[in-house]
Amino acid sequence: MWGNGDFRSPALVIETADGTRGADFRYRSHEIREGKYALPGLPAAYLPEGSEEEAETLEVILEEDLLGLELRLLYGIFPEHDVITRAVRIRNRSGEEVWIDKLLPASLDFTGGAYDCLVFHGRHTMERMVERIPVGHASIGIGSRRGASSHQHNPVMILAGRGTTDDCGDCYALVFVYSGGFQGSAETDQYGTCRVQLGLQEEGFRYPLKKGEEFVSPEVILSYSKEGTDRLSHNLHGLIREHICRWQAQDGRRPVVVNSWEASYFAITKESLLSLAKEAAAIGADMLVVDDGWFGNRKDDLRALGDWYTNEDKLGGSLAQLAEEVNRIGLGFGIWMEPEMVSEDSDLYRSHPDWALQIPGRAPVRGRYQLVLDLSREDVRKEIFRQICAVLDSAPIEYLKWDFNRSIFEACSTQAGHQGRVLYDYVRGLYEVLEKLHLRYPHLLIEGCSGGGGRFDAGMLYYTPQIWTSDNTDPIDRLRIQYGTSFAYPVSAMAAHVSKSPNEQTGRVTPLDVRGLTAMYGAFGYEMDLSRLSDEEKQEAREQIRQYHRFEDLITAGLYYRLSDPARDPYVGWAFVRQDGSEALVHVVQQTAQANGPADYVRLKGLLPEGLYREEGSGQCFDAALLMAAGFPLPATDGAYRAHAYHFVLEEKTVP
Ligand code: DGJ
Repeated sequence: MWGNGDFRSPALVIETADGTRGADFRYRSHEIREGKYALPGLPAAYLPEGSEEEAETLEVILEEDLLGLELRLLYGIFPEHDVITRAVRIRNRSGEEVWIDKLLPASLDFTGGAYDCLVFHGRHTMERMVERIPVGHASIGIGSRRGASSHQHNPVMILAGRGTTDDCGDCYALVFVYSGGFQGSAETDQYGTCRVQLGLQEEGFRYPLKKGEEFVSPEVILSYSKEGTDRLSHNLHGLIREHICRWQAQDGRRPVVVNSWEASYFAITKESLLSLAKEAAAIGADMLVVDDGWFGNRKDDLRALGDWYTNEDKLGGSLAQLAEEVNRIGLGFGIWMEPEMVSEDSDLYRSHPDWALQIPGRAPVRGRYQLVLDLSREDVRKEIFRQICAVLDSAPIEYLKWDFNRSIFEACSTQAGHQGRVLYDYVRGLYEVLEKLHLRYPHLLIEGCSGGGGRFDAGMLYYTPQIWTSDNTDPIDRLRIQYGTSFAYPVSAMAAHVSKSPNEQTGRVTPLDVRGLTAMYGAFGYEMDLSRLSDEEKQEAREQIRQYHRFEDLITAGLYYRLSDPARDPYVGWAFVRQDGSEALVHVVQQTAQANGPADYVRLKGLLPEGLYREEGSGQCFDAALLMAAGFPLPATDGAYRAHAYHFVLEEKTVP
């Protein structure tokens, strides 16, 4: 912490009214108890009721006598996932107001050793690209000042020994369970100790704490693997699936969604939607999702956000009528909303201009022509909640796509006591609305979205168990995006759709099987005008859905392995292996064609080493040790953009 002789980057900075910075917290007591602590108003890993798993909490209490502050360090332990979580609570027991200027709930020192830091950077339509940076004496810094976790950096850091690979070596993960601005850093000091930190973005953050008030920080998930980053990902996937995400499908299946966005964009009509629904039902999809454009005067992105009433001219009737017709066709019904936003050209903005975050007297800074509603205000939250409930109660809606399409530039509220708290209160306000929805509609599946994957984080996953991974639906780009996302987040969290070819974002032409296989590496769906598919392609799509449902359980809950590095290898391979090693689904997409190139061998992982496996398609039997040491060859001279799926089933366990 700042002010007690450690000159490295502090995890905590406290300031008093006269501008003095410094604190010296001392240990007072600690307590160990069964179960996992919860954080009021914030997402946090939890132990489901009736779970046979164990979790423990360690609470360490520290005191700052001069300032009259009490600090509680909370540690949650999930031994089965090799995970420790950590959060901080600070209570002001003095008569004086203080300000928290910086708070990073994770600050870890590693003595000795040489490390690399894996960070996940990107941009809109190219999120979570993996970059491996050697940690040295200059600081590596990532973060977001955008009020959301962002496309540009994801709130995840992996510290890996220099020689660590997917399969072997020490590595440590830090995953922030928070959806707002954050910062992370890694740096080696003069004695070779590496400090890694992750927590709240300090720029613009100055949180006042009056007498009796308490500040609760979000938590960071920490995990360790001595068997490389695949194992580290298994730890995080299990933890996030079982202890962060809360939605459970009633029939155990994620719906295969057909979404209207890339099919019609804003030009949806009752006819276009019903025709899409019929096509969707014919290929065996489960749900139609009406994306942007169904409400108010929303004919383009210049207007109408905030006016969440049905545009009956466009939809030819009420939302309920449309939903019921879609239900009659045999599909569930879902809807898109962007509840945190307002267009200046909207009834909501005309009646409440002060509800948008903006600096009085200055022209607003717009992003996608829209402003952000001030969720730090209770009245705004109440109205947003009312609006959403009015939509959800008006029709049989089973799925909500919750979008957020711009960053926050102006952290200025007309109501905040202090602007240094607005962004934090905004995120807490968002969580409050999402929590109320979760309680009122426990079976509603909410898919998170932010211009694709601009708010893909463990905080959102607590409320929205799947997130639209990227606005880029090109399968070849998606392979890299989903690969990067897979380091921290489970496949079940990544919404992935088959779209048209040539692709809308890149113009790339790819066959349907490549698009299908890539989208199956996620919560599967379609995002295209299905009527443009040929009869053979429709048959192929039907088969894709059948395959997805057949293997859904293995895909969403099996152990996921990375079998290549898309930035290095000519093919991208990945596998889902049943926990007991009894079967493995292996998917491979050839990225490039090579003239007179070498044969590509795919090395499997996670099989029982003494097992004999039969590959279902060819009927051939393979020794697991061989499959894992040497691999099996991909078909020769096969060209680029080829998809291969293999299903290996354990035939027998041979005695070594
Ligand atoms: C951005 C999302 O990522 C898209 O999928 C789509 O929902 C548009 N917003 C709608 O405006």
